[in-house]
Amino acid sequence: MEYRKIDKLNVSPSLLGFGCMRFPEKNGKIDEALSSQMIKIAIDGGVNYFDSAYVYHGGKSEEFTGSVLGGYPRDSFYMATKLPTWAVKSLDDAQRIFGEQLSRLNMDYIDFYLLHALDKKKWANMRDLNIEKWGEELKRTGKIKYFGFSFHDDFECFEKIITAREWDFCQIQLNYMDIDENQGGLAAYRLCEKLGVPVIIMEPVKGGSLAKLPENLEKLFTAVNPEASPASWAIRWVGGLPGVKVILSGMSKAEQVYENLKTCGELKPLSDEEMSVVEKVRTERVKRVYNGCTGCNYCMPCPAGVNIPWNFTIWNNYGIYENRASANWDWGIISEGEKALNCNECGACEEQCPQKIAVREDLKKVQKQLDALKKKEGA
Ligand SMILES: NC(=O)c1ccc[n+]([C@@H]2O[C@H](COP(=O)([O-])OP(=O)(O)OC[C@H]3O[C@@H](n4cnc5c(N)ncnc54)[C@H](OP(=O)(O)O)[C@@H]3O)[C@@H](O)[C@H]2O)c1
Repeated sequence: MEYRKIDKLNVSPSLLGFGCMRFPEKNGKIDEALSSQMIKIAIDGGVNYFDSAYVYHGGKSEEFTGSVLGGYPRDSFYMATKLPTWAVKSLDDAQRIFGEQLSRLNMDYIDFYLLHALDKKKWANMRDLNIEKWGEELKRTGKIKYFGFSFHDDFECFEKIITAREWDFCQIQLNYMDIDENQGGLAAYRLCEKLGVPVIIMEPVKGGSLAKLPENLEKLFTAVNPEASPASWAIRWVGGLPGVKVILSGMSKAEQVYENLKTCGELKPLSDEEMSVVEKVRTERVKRVYNGCTGCNYCMPCPAGVNIPWNFTIWNNYGIYENRASANWDWGIISEGEKALNCNECGACEEQCPQKIAVREDLKKVQKQLDALKKKEGA
């Protein structure tokens, strides 16, 4: 296993970190036998970083992960978990949840503690509560070792958060598709490098979407390296960035653990030739979007309450990745009131759209296609 020392924290996490969000399940619950086995394979292969959260697996991830890790010396691994920022309305809430997390994990302290999924709104709320001071106090009393955040918003927001204080680390979504500023992307990574903030990566394989490619694109990879899987290309791409200290993967099968251990054993950054192949794959995939929505929000607010950019993001992602499970998941999360079907065809959005998208027509297609997909899943 490759270990990338973080000098300023004096820690050496394994490059491959175990994401405790996608354990295999049986009858809607964590398949504990298989998941324990996967954790053991990972530890035997040198993994020492585990990333959970209060909400993963319906709140069961921390308890399960803690129960397996309880069989190992506490100083032989790093435990990371996250405060559900959206559920915290007061410092009492934060304190109560933190206490619950320690007891679920059955641990006296947490190594890496994160404010979960910060965006503009959640960060504003956290600041109002002066959560930084609370985090510092947890550090001072030894309840946590390092204080950081995970992030889902655009680069402008990222810049504000990362420069607001001295963070020990941060967790960002980065893979060879998500390089643009709408998730922080490479700009966020570079800023961390400049500021000396260690970076933990989530979604290196884009939640599984980069593990399966259409045949014509997979051929581009296999022509250069017939043995390597698309997932290993994605992991090597992100691992080629020196400021990346841990690559989290939410592995759902034992074979994935074995393969990712191999990829991160001694990670070989992509060669220039391989980088140009990835660029080709990326360009081809991006072409598969259904429309050119860039998420600029000029169309918002919609008088009928439709969240136009979100509808298009789900639809376009389905076009690019053809990942049915992921599209259905997203279509399940967006509220009924924000869905395309509420469009009353007033056309105000089309006057504002810089991309000149036929918003009204496309919204009809979104609703039809994503509803049909959902039906197929239910059938
Ligand atoms: N803080 C946050 O807001 C946040 C958000 C997202 C994630 N996270 C954390 O980051 C971790 C990593 O994110 P992620 O789980 O989305 O990582 P990921 O590696 O991008 O996606 C994991 C999925 O990729 C596929 N995969 C991984 N390795 C593979 C391999 N060798 N071969 C084939 N397929 C492979 C599997 O898909 P299949 O299951 O379909 O086979 C697996 O479930 C999470 O587990 C979680 O701990 C945090």
